[in-house]
Amino acid sequence: MSIKHVSFVGLGYIGLPTAVVLASSGLKVTGVDVNPHVVDMVNRGCPQIKEPGLEEELVNVIEQGSFRASTEQVQADCYIVAVPTPFTDTHEVDMRYIYSAADEIAPKLAGGELIVLESTSPPETTERMARRIMSLRPDLARDIEGESDGRPVVYFAHCPERILPGNAMEELITNDRIIGGTTPRATQLAKEVYGSFCKGGLLETNAITAEMAKLTENSFRDVNIAFANELSLICDRFGIDVWELIELANHHPRVNILQPGPGVGGHCIAVDPWFIVSAAPDLARLIHTARQVNDSKPNWVVEQIREAVGGQVSTEITILGLAFKANIDDLRESPAVEIAKTVAAEFPECRIRVVEPNIVELPPSLANYKNTTLAELQEGLSAGHVVVLLVDHDEFKAVQKAELEGKALIDTKGVWR
Ligand SMILES: NC(=O)c1ccc[n+]([C@@H]2O[C@H](COP(=O)([O-])OP(=O)(O)OC[C@H]3O[C@@H](n4cnc5c(N)ncnc54)[C@H](O)[C@@H]3O)[C@@H](O)[C@H]2O)c1
Repeated sequence: MSIKHVSFVGLGYIGLPTAVVLASSGLKVTGVDVNPHVVDMVNRGCPQIKEPGLEEELVNVIEQGSFRASTEQVQADCYIVAVPTPFTDTHEVDMRYIYSAADEIAPKLAGGELIVLESTSPPETTERMARRIMSLRPDLARDIEGESDGRPVVYFAHCPERILPGNAMEELITNDRIIGGTTPRATQLAKEVYGSFCKGGLLETNAITAEMAKLTENSFRDVNIAFANELSLICDRFGIDVWELIELANHHPRVNILQPGPGVGGHCIAVDPWFIVSAAPDLARLIHTARQVNDSKPNWVVEQIREAVGGQVSTEITILGLAFKANIDDLRESPAVEIAKTVAAEFPECRIRVVEPNIVELPPSLANYKNTTLAELQEGLSAGHVVVLLVDHDEFKAVQKAELEGKALIDTKGVWR
């Protein structure tokens, strides 16, 4: 393979596990991150993220000399960019991180390199990144036939990531992978890189289809969760158990309804559909409505808590779970955090205990509230008059319903029904 050295840009939830798996497959990998603390911890073999199997594999690749982290960009044969792609107030992609990564890569290029965007992005983002890099390097050419004028050529591709946090080390290897070059040659180069560690199918397409594919997967899930969340509101009005209803309906051989919850969170499902909505606002009507349905579910949960508290200022409230889904420590875009913050602000006289077994301290946005503390599960269960389950962590599923006798329960995940 022509690619021997890969620079992996952004060592977060996606970048670090992928960089480590790439290094284990025999390639030389440099992990580049702007955060010196992240780089320092990674070089010591202590990943800043919790992911089963990651630490052991990181220590292995450091010891065998195939991986090191750095704050400085390096010269490499391939650059893979996995930096954040948050959205702005108007739900457009914030290109700041991609552009700053591009600006660091551009001076290192000599020609012949492949630059892959892994960050989840709206249609045409790979193109925008490519244009940014090429504008900084007029001495190099895009890989477009007949236009290179003898100048060294640079290749671009988009290869989106769809691993499940908590099972990343396995899914990186076994999942099928979409490989979308801006040209067929770029697709082939990217296929070589991902083929070095990915045992799943390598599905060839172009860059814009690859961008849209990732957004489509998450929008599919968002729309289907919105359906379940909408059903949960309708069922509540009519006194129907929504989980029983869905279980019954799913016995139909062609029906597979997802589960409702307190809302939708995380870095992907709560964000990616907006990239389609902002790209085609006049056409993406269903996707837009699904976002609104899911974003309004936390308000409905707060309303239930309000009713349970019933104006009693001495009420002790226990909130179970802050993460955006079960058995992980990721709080990004979590509806549980939003609910906890609203409750903390709305009931200053009430004592609020938050139980989240996967974190060691409350996020600053919650720690600011004097009435709110991080508590152990047993303390939260025995003290809470109102117990609100927001995440179905294993620890909470193990709680017997008998332990909750006499308490007002708000179970958004159907764990204790
Ligand atoms: N977390 C997931 O489960 C998941 C799944 C699929 C796709 N994605 C996508 O992958 C991308 C990265 O997400 P993440 O969850 O790994 O983010 P993250 O916030 O965990 O990590 C991003 C890292 O990039 C670093 N960074 C920022 N700007 C940089 C720059 N210019 N140069 C070098 N490093 C820089 C940050 O310091 C941080 O360590 C996003 O587009 C996200 O949507 C995430």
